[in-house]
Amino acid sequence: MIYSINNPVPVLRKSQELFSKKMKLFDVYAINPVEIARGEGSIVWDNHGNEYLDMYGGHAVISIGHTHPHYVKRITDQLRQIGFYSNSVEIPVQVQLAELLGNVSGKSGFQLFLCNSGAEANENALKLASFYNNRKKVIAFTGAFHGRTSLAVAATHNAKIVAPVNETDNVLFLPFNDTEALTRAFAAYGEEISSVIVEGIQGVGGIKVASYEFLKQIRNLTSQYDAIFIADSVQCGYGRSGAFYSHDLAGIEADIYSMAKGMGNGFPIGGIAISPKIKPWIGMLGTTFGGNHLACAAALAVLEVIEQDKLIEHAANMGTYLMDELNKMDKVLEVRGKGLMIGIDLPEELSTVKKDLLTKNRIFTGEAKPNVIRLLPALNITKAHADCFLEALDERLREF
Ligand SMILES: Cc1ncc(COP(=O)(O)O)c(C=O)c1O
Repeated sequence: MIYSINNPVPVLRKSQELFSKKMKLFDVYAINPVEIARGEGSIVWDNHGNEYLDMYGGHAVISIGHTHPHYVKRITDQLRQIGFYSNSVEIPVQVQLAELLGNVSGKSGFQLFLCNSGAEANENALKLASFYNNRKKVIAFTGAFHGRTSLAVAATHNAKIVAPVNETDNVLFLPFNDTEALTRAFAAYGEEISSVIVEGIQGVGGIKVASYEFLKQIRNLTSQYDAIFIADSVQCGYGRSGAFYSHDLAGIEADIYSMAKGMGNGFPIGGIAISPKIKPWIGMLGTTFGGNHLACAAALAVLEVIEQDKLIEHAANMGTYLMDELNKMDKVLEVRGKGLMIGIDLPEELSTVKKDLLTKNRIFTGEAKPNVIRLLPALNITKAHADCFLEALDERLREF
């Protein structure tokens, strides 16, 4: 058989048929029917020009406000120089980022490993702990969310998102904030435990704050048994709680802090700050994109704004103001959180409030099950915007 233009090989015909169909998105997100086209500070606009107040910060990601001029300039300037080169060469902007992060977070003696997301940060932290003490067991807690990569998802307390291939006997779940259960677990398996991973404030779990007593006991026991204390700061970190790392409010220091969301104000970047007691060796961890020039420029811009505009202090003050005002609203069951990571617990019959805030007041908020409104605004949210939210919520609650 001779193939020609008039008589092509069958396999070609088949692939042409496939290409003629349009590719669709893999449908995994529950989305609001809104297209956000533009943003500035804590305000975003849809494609029809309608204005929305962003009390959600694109899921705790927007730390210094949308399109902050210093952020835009720093990324643009970097892009004009070079956007990416691999980790096989010196990248001074990474060193600059490590130094500034050390200063702003109060962890100057720590070491920084850069990656691209929160799950990756936790995955690397868990792995590093295991390299350090040559053990396999991980303690995680009820309500925890640590990401969707293999071990991070195995340490996440949601069986629905753990695929059979991610299942492992190495993760032991204990009740969150239960100091006695933790002490018993260490008494039983202390020598086998590689790490304890805990959020300072559980985000997906419904804005539940880890008690200082609990965090102190994690520190005591991990030190006693030479296990690694991993402070998942992906959502509660980077100044959001009114401290750079919320765990440190308990007066302790973890061995590894994982971070991501607020770090790049939307530019994908994650990282782990690692105690000097963990020593690196060449090839121990690695990534193609982690720590690229553009991501580091974005993260530097964020830290510079946080430092210059004293945003950690501002987050603490605005958080206290919001929580005080929310506590005055009689239909609110409970207000939880710290700084600008706030959960508003509403009764079952008020389950439409979050949606109404979006459709009637054009305010974005986050949610957690069963009926918690999550506030995760930019750290530089103004009092006027906070008041605008409080008035809108009051209006919605009065409808019931
Ligand atoms: C506490 C915590 N850890 C880890 C992650 C995973 O981060 P990413 O979605 O960037 O992988 C999240 C995401 O919501 C989180 O809230």
